Amino acid sequence: MDKLVIEGGVKLKGEVTISGAKNAVLPILAATLLTDDACIIKGVPDLRDTNTMIRILRSLGKSADLEKGIVSISTLKKTGYVADYKLVSTMRASFCVLGPLLGKLKKAKVSLPGGCVIGVRPVDLHLKGIKALGADINIESGYVIAKAQELKGNHIYLGGVYGSSVLATDNVMMAAVLANGKTVIESAACEPEVVDLAEFLVKMGAKIKGQGTPIIEIEGVKRLHGATHTIIPDRIEAGTMILAALITRGDILIKNVSYKHLGALIDRLEEAGAGLVKTDNSMHVRYKNELKAINVTTLPYPGFPTDMQAQMMSLMSVTPGISVITEKIYPDRFMHVAELNRMGAHIQREGPHAIVEGIKELSGAPVMASDLRASACLALAGLAAKGKTSISRIYHLERGYENIEEKLEKLGAKVWREKE
Ligand code: EPZ
Repeated sequence: MDKLVIEGGVKLKGEVTISGAKNAVLPILAATLLTDDACIIKGVPDLRDTNTMIRILRSLGKSADLEKGIVSISTLKKTGYVADYKLVSTMRASFCVLGPLLGKLKKAKVSLPGGCVIGVRPVDLHLKGIKALGADINIESGYVIAKAQELKGNHIYLGGVYGSSVLATDNVMMAAVLANGKTVIESAACEPEVVDLAEFLVKMGAKIKGQGTPIIEIEGVKRLHGATHTIIPDRIEAGTMILAALITRGDILIKNVSYKHLGALIDRLEEAGAGLVKTDNSMHVRYKNELKAINVTTLPYPGFPTDMQAQMMSLMSVTPGISVITEKIYPDRFMHVAELNRMGAHIQREGPHAIVEGIKELSGAPVMASDLRASACLALAGLAAKGKTSISRIYHLERGYENIEEKLEKLGAKVWREKE
């Protein structure tokens, strides 16, 4: 296994182009199971997770190849309906093949996804939604086995104790597009990645309204055809790069970013005193003055994204004042606290809150990545820290950030890879 080593203290300067959104491309690749026609997906980031989803599509009878950001998908042989444990256990997002397999084949056998360090990650809402469409569900030796004579549209309330669910909304939407009649998903997720999936489904011939709002209406159709689609920019990678500019007191032009998808983050950063110059598809972030500590609470979109919580904690750990960071989506998503404290941060966890007392400077140290966004948080901390930081288990980082070292190096960062 490799580790990422960063010599901190360099002000990042220059331009960076954001890749396609991981959390849009995964369900969109799964959605190609809804047709036997060829599909072309553009703007696909070359990530561990996208390659896992491509392997799952191949295991289900598709031919799928990622070449220079483009995935061409066609049907090689009769689509299988079993997504096996080996692949699903490496990436829980693979669970979003359940909806399209059920929608197209009226049967699906998908391994239950494991939990992960950020939480138990239940799938009760996914199962509630597809049951409401008429599927019989059995749980057998770690698999969900779903079958339906016919899928019938229904009115489904999909809100859980933590609010809406992104992938449950995706799964139900993908099962409903070929169901008989109308489906209304109430308390649907509004994330831009859900909207991007809906846009792709509409290009395939689906009838969907209300995507991006809590009420999505789907009129079932008989079949879907192939389509070509370009993935939206990754708002979480963009947010991470914005914080990289601020935490290193640098000056970065971020290209291929839709600031409309970053409202909550921009609001918090402007409240902290950051100056962000936005155009339609770029953002110029130049550190001008010392920021002030602000409070952050994660919420479903358009609230502050939980996937930016760890990265914001890095910035707040070197911002004067007290910042209270409250995690309302995954209350245990604080594995990065102990690692930041190893770098000299003053952070105290109190249940779903982390109390961050900003210090002058972090000090480089050997730290361990525990999940994708925690590894991004540690990379940001390493960029700002005095001395050398080595982040082990960086396969977590490779799951969601395309060519991250090259991108940081181009911005002047002293970053390299070493064998564990
Ligand atoms: C998506 O996961 C993202 N992953 C996550 O990003 C992101 O953190 C999450 O949405 C929240 O925004 C992908 O899109 C591939 P949820 P998802 O269902 O859909 C609870 C990253 O770093 N819940 O919206 O699995 C759940 O426990 C990853 O890129 C239920 O209770 O998340 C959580 O508390 C990490 N029952 C809340 O809902 C269910 O059936 C939101 O989870 C499903 C979820």
